[in-house]
Amino acid sequence: MSKWQKSNWRAKPRVQMPDYTNADALAGVEAQLSNYPPLVFAGEARRLKQHLAAAARGEAFLLQGGDCAESFEQFSANNIRDTFKVMLQMAMVLTYGAKVPVIKLGRMAGQFAKPRSAATEVIDGVELPSYRGDIINELAFTPESRIPNPNKMLQAYTQASATLNLLRAFSTGGYADVNQVHAWTLGFTETEKVDKYREMAARITDTLDFMKAAGVTQETAHTLQSVEFYTSHEGLLLEYEEALTVLDSTSGKWLAGSGHMIWIGDRTRQPDGAHVEFCRGVLNPIGLKCGPTTSAEDLKVLMSKLNPENEEGKLTLIARFGAGKVAEHLPRLVKAVQEEGANVTWVCDPMHGNTVKSSSGYKTRPFDSVLKEVRDFFAVHSAEGTVPGGVHFEMTGQDVTECTGGVRAVTDEDLSARYHTACDPRLNASQSLELAFLVAEELSALRTERTARQAG
Ligand code: PEP
Ligand code: CO
Repeated sequence: MSKWQKSNWRAKPRVQMPDYTNADALAGVEAQLSNYPPLVFAGEARRLKQHLAAAARGEAFLLQGGDCAESFEQFSANNIRDTFKVMLQMAMVLTYGAKVPVIKLGRMAGQFAKPRSAATEVIDGVELPSYRGDIINELAFTPESRIPNPNKMLQAYTQASATLNLLRAFSTGGYADVNQVHAWTLGFTETEKVDKYREMAARITDTLDFMKAAGVTQETAHTLQSVEFYTSHEGLLLEYEEALTVLDSTSGKWLAGSGHMIWIGDRTRQPDGAHVEFCRGVLNPIGLKCGPTTSAEDLKVLMSKLNPENEEGKLTLIARFGAGKVAEHLPRLVKAVQEEGANVTWVCDPMHGNTVKSSSGYKTRPFDSVLKEVRDFFAVHSAEGTVPGGVHFEMTGQDVTECTGGVRAVTDEDLSARYHTACDPRLNASQSLELAFLVAEELSALRTERTARQAG
């Protein structure tokens, strides 16, 4: 293969990217962005890769979550804090279930560009180009709003850097203290009154009390008051990605400086396309969405392109088939991975295959389908003897009504009350934490099964 350059993707067929009309304005923005500092450091991306390698071996578990699309309008400290907070709560519950460290990876600080299933949108007989995320155009249904504007990349960069700054402050400044996180979770179990969640929370309380009595406190163990929190987004808008790509002087490799992990979406994973070409050359861990249309042959080509040295932790396969379709598709892809002897981390995205239109007309996702897909994913890995390495959710810390179901039972009729997403429906704070409790049960059962197998 010829030597990789960060601009080589330009010679490849591209899909899902905007056609900017003003080439000079675009070039100006790219020049400006490429003078800006990267948002992340290569050492952090390498560290995340090591954690993901551990997840592939069953020695860690990935929790990846956040908005479908971050929004300029809803950008606020409270929103960032609340998503961070619910992710920490989920991570703690999952840690308890899995008994391994949980890697916290936000769909945050860069998740602005969206692939769309249709190029245009029709409302009341009027047809306009689709909204493609705040980094590209605007959600408002007017011809001007839908024109792609390169200046939005600068605003996205600013928002991403401020978001990451706050996340880093929360991670190390005392907000992430383990006792505080648990106190929030106890608040949840008080309101929701589900016995099995209360029992698990009580067991976590016991564990923390025991640790305290044994002298393991925030003062003696600093890991109890800080967390490592990483960022990720779909690497869709390649002009933005290229501009933030820098040479890492330590390794002589290229770093996508826009986030710790970038992933390739289900619509942009053409083996000879622009997105794969870009992602194959950066040192970051790379995610690859795998859907019902991913063929075993394509997956094999993609694995060798994206991870030619078969490095552990480099490639995360994010399965998103839909509840009821996992058994049909996951085994054939697991087999393809085994045939190649490829190192991958398997993660379940139970969101994107489970989007339905509610009777009230909203795009929604039933909580039970989300849970079912996760359970199916665990079951296939159990049967194949492979490792379920993590979960990937579209979620928010806000009390939105976008997905139906959960203990608070959001109904079709409730959806209109607080439907705030700019793109796909997200789990709200209560649904997210509830799902974490249910996934923790699965992880705990898996552990018991594994221990029994080893003993027997
Ligand atoms: C997404 O993660 O928001 C997304 C568009 O996913 P997919 O590419 O799997 O459809
Ligand atoms: Co989405």
